[in-house]
Amino acid sequence: MPRTLIEPFRIKSVEPIRMTTRGERERLLEEAKLNVFRLHADDVLIDWLTDSGTGAMSARQWAAIMEGDESYAGARSFFRLEAVIRDLTGMPHFIPTHQGRAAEKVLFSVACKSGNLVPNNSHFDTTRANLEYLGVEAVDLVVPEGLQPALVHPFKGNIDLARVERLLAEHGERIPFGMITVTNNTGGGQPVSMANLRAYSALLKKHGKPLVMDVCRFAENAMFVKMREPGYEDTPIRSIVQEMFSYADACTMSAKKDGMVNIGGFIVLRNAEWLEAARNLLILTEGFPTYGGLAGRDLEALAVGLQEGIDEDYLRYRLRTAEYLGERLDAAGVGFVRPTGGHAVYIDARTVLPDMPVAHYPAWALCNALYLEGGIRGVEIGSVMFGKHLDDGTETYHSMELVRLAFPRRMYTQSHFDYAAEVIADVKKHAAAIRGVRIVKQPKFLRHFTCECAWV
Ligand code: F0G
Repeated sequence: MPRTLIEPFRIKSVEPIRMTTRGERERLLEEAKLNVFRLHADDVLIDWLTDSGTGAMSARQWAAIMEGDESYAGARSFFRLEAVIRDLTGMPHFIPTHQGRAAEKVLFSVACKSGNLVPNNSHFDTTRANLEYLGVEAVDLVVPEGLQPALVHPFKGNIDLARVERLLAEHGERIPFGMITVTNNTGGGQPVSMANLRAYSALLKKHGKPLVMDVCRFAENAMFVKMREPGYEDTPIRSIVQEMFSYADACTMSAKKDGMVNIGGFIVLRNAEWLEAARNLLILTEGFPTYGGLAGRDLEALAVGLQEGIDEDYLRYRLRTAEYLGERLDAAGVGFVRPTGGHAVYIDARTVLPDMPVAHYPAWALCNALYLEGGIRGVEIGSVMFGKHLDDGTETYHSMELVRLAFPRRMYTQSHFDYAAEVIADVKKHAAAIRGVRIVKQPKFLRHFTCECAWV
């Protein structure tokens, strides 16, 4: 057997990349106030800002789009997608939304109230923001291994059950449900084991609390279970997925990830407790319950995408791609969250900029350097994203300084990865020249998207 794992697809339609020079990128980054979110995408060579909604759809998905039923109520496309989702999740109630954060907003508004507290392995930024907006405390309880970037452990996304148990004992009355994010995006795209899901669900049940799963990357999580958890080697991905969902009472989904589509999301519910209120709120802000802010054609593309996203050859290639870049970084002496995650590689900026003070935002600085050096756009997951500017003018900082390179699905080929590996190695070699930043303007919530920076 040849050892090279090929992309398990051919390219039928292409999108040119506009080449830029370093000089141009210096000017463009200054114009973007040193915030890569503010760049024009045309000025980016390799866009690894996010794996969300950025992937390539298949010929089958494009064909399905033509089948979209755009009826306002009771569209055929809704029922087609509902059947696929019921099969995968085993849940009877499906509510489409325009993307993941809308699912969060609707579900949390119905199921939480001010003063509540919600545990999770790690809340994604929109998940945390939607909870905090409602006056809910979002508590991250990932296992200690999940906070040590260099440590190799098969399931660094697991939630720390002992701490959950303590929280339930001390603050049980404040907890409306437990959450878990598969894979754990904020913690490095790390998977959660089936054993952990099973035990967490049982623990919550003992206390009469439902489990809400954030399932954006459920398929990648399932593939990690297959590859790493004893007893699942020979289990088909579909069955692993079905078992994962069997432990949840409700899920929020951004279909822009493992749904393999450019827009979409949903809520699924096992029982009807939150159903009516959620549907009523949906009508207020998203749309009628059979389209939820999406076009009929989006529902069709998702029905196909959910099935393509659990294809084993695709998932094997997908996880291997991240691992491959990890090997190249290792050879260059660049640290990253180990083992590599499903959808992304998270560079530990501390290993490139060990002496830069956290107040100069080293991960943000590295992000800027990757753009300047090679036109690569990643995203900071550090103290700009998760730190806070308090009313008294002081700052809080995040426990890690990471740069996430997130890979759009079925879009970039191996030479793009080889190029990126070369750029990162060069940046590391000339790290002494990298400048930190200060924030000169910022909003109160989700400041990383729009803040303006200046060089220190
Ligand atoms: N939950 C997780 C774990 C996510 O990664 C995201 C989005 C969401 C919820 C919200 O979904 O974007 O459809 O509203 N993550 C993207 C990312 C944005 O880049 O990681 P959304």
